[in-house]
Amino acid sequence: MKQNKITPIIGLQWGDEGKGKGVARIASRLKSSDLIVRFQGGNNAGHTIWHKGKSYVFKLIPSGVFGRAQIHLGAGMVINPGALRDEIKTIPKDVSFLNRLSVSPHAVLTMPTHILLDSVSEKNKGKKKIGSTGRGISPSYTDLTLRRALRVGDIFQNDFKKRYVKLANEHKETLQKVFNYKTSSKDIKENEKGFWKGIKLLRSLSIINSASLIEKALGSEYIVIAEGAQGTLLDVRFGNYPYVTSSHTIAGGVATGLGIPPEYVGGAIGIFKAYATKIGEGPFPTELGGKKSAIWCRDKKYAYEKKRFLNPDPNSKDEFEQGIALRRLGFEIGAVTGRLRRTGWLDIPLLKYAININNARELVLTKLDVLNNFKKIKVCTSYIIAGKKTIEIPFDLFRVKIKCVYKSFPVWKRNLSDYGNTLPKEALVYIKFLEKTLGAKIIYVGTGPEEHHVVERYW
Ligand code: GDP
Ligand code: IMO
Ligand code: MG
Repeated sequence: MKQNKITPIIGLQWGDEGKGKGVARIASRLKSSDLIVRFQGGNNAGHTIWHKGKSYVFKLIPSGVFGRAQIHLGAGMVINPGALRDEIKTIPKDVSFLNRLSVSPHAVLTMPTHILLDSVSEKNKGKKKIGSTGRGISPSYTDLTLRRALRVGDIFQNDFKKRYVKLANEHKETLQKVFNYKTSSKDIKENEKGFWKGIKLLRSLSIINSASLIEKALGSEYIVIAEGAQGTLLDVRFGNYPYVTSSHTIAGGVATGLGIPPEYVGGAIGIFKAYATKIGEGPFPTELGGKKSAIWCRDKKYAYEKKRFLNPDPNSKDEFEQGIALRRLGFEIGAVTGRLRRTGWLDIPLLKYAININNARELVLTKLDVLNNFKKIKVCTSYIIAGKKTIEIPFDLFRVKIKCVYKSFPVWKRNLSDYGNTLPKEALVYIKFLEKTLGAKIIYVGTGPEEHHVVERYW
């Protein structure tokens, strides 16, 4: 049995909890022999980090790129080679990382026709769409389970191009037969150019089995961090199906996503915001403004919202306006797609569910500063379903009519930044309530977007 274990860093909500910042902070303390790996997802992820006063959004590359540790794109990922190449170009020249970067041969390649399949099938669903990021993630994983996917290891085979053309043709046939969509060369031309340039780049990178890399690191007692993408409620099986992504986002996904025994995986650190957001369609019991907000966020652009609501009031009696104020204050705009993130209050039943599924006994609470300008905040402590109070999450959350029971908390009077490394008493009341109710410790509290905007507890 190895002494060190992998630490999964997992989102406990619907993604965008601040995982990137959390991982970057840990990474800044790691040594060159330590390891940060992604184990699932693809460039549907958008992990924002601040480095030397500039913000970066990482989609495929682990958020530890500015540290010294080794970084690895694991077996459970889907990788768009063109997107990887573009992302690599955004990293400043003085950061040497290509010698620290490796990729699993088992990771699935996202092809231009996967991206087309994603967007055409979403359009076809009309009002029933999932709200996918349109990055071809679901069709890429579909090909894995259909046992016909191209994987990173295949790029060294002589027949790779032939297999690519065959599979792309099968995709075009599906587009034609199932969706009555005739693929034109214009649809995929640019992405194909990027794909082949990306393949060239991939051939120059270090391709290593995730499992051997991890075994070696754990065996030498180095630190291994597994950076989750998306969030627990987007897990393909245990999230709010069907409004989910197509991979296992939970801590259980670390073992299967990397090909390692489950006993190598240690306790997860769970990350959640001081409120809730969701991007795309699907159930969101605590959404401020309810259905009106969901439709607004589906149909409107940020520029329009800004013009229409110059100064939304976080203390408005109109919950829809409060939700807009929360979005503005937290800058809740999709890092990948620029869509409006739906906003709402913290949801204890869902958080408990997520904590249990990941066994996350250490938590990071982010974006507490975003609540500075509220007078009062709310937390949903239970649901009323068919007249009964419960904290059980129904199997088909999106079909069930839920009434939320709320508890209110007063908000601190000054900005959190005025309190330095401490927290005002009102914030501590809120945090201690969460710790007691959730049965877990909140080890970090995020008080701003940059790496140093953190109050450490229990140290
Ligand atoms: P991820 O996908 O989980 O990595 O999260 P995103 O990067 O998509 O979204 C989180 C956003 O919140 C980013 O813009 C971060 O810079 C920002 N952020 C993270 N932690 C904090 C915090 O404690 N306070 C504030 N104000 N912003 C934060
Ligand atoms: P990070 O890692 C928030 C959402 C999409 C959509 C659903 C399915 O930044 O937290 P997909 O493109 O995977 O088929 O979309 O999942 N989604 C995310 N929402 N953060 C993410 O990643 C997401 N990745 C996918 O909006 O509702
Ligand atoms: Mg994100």
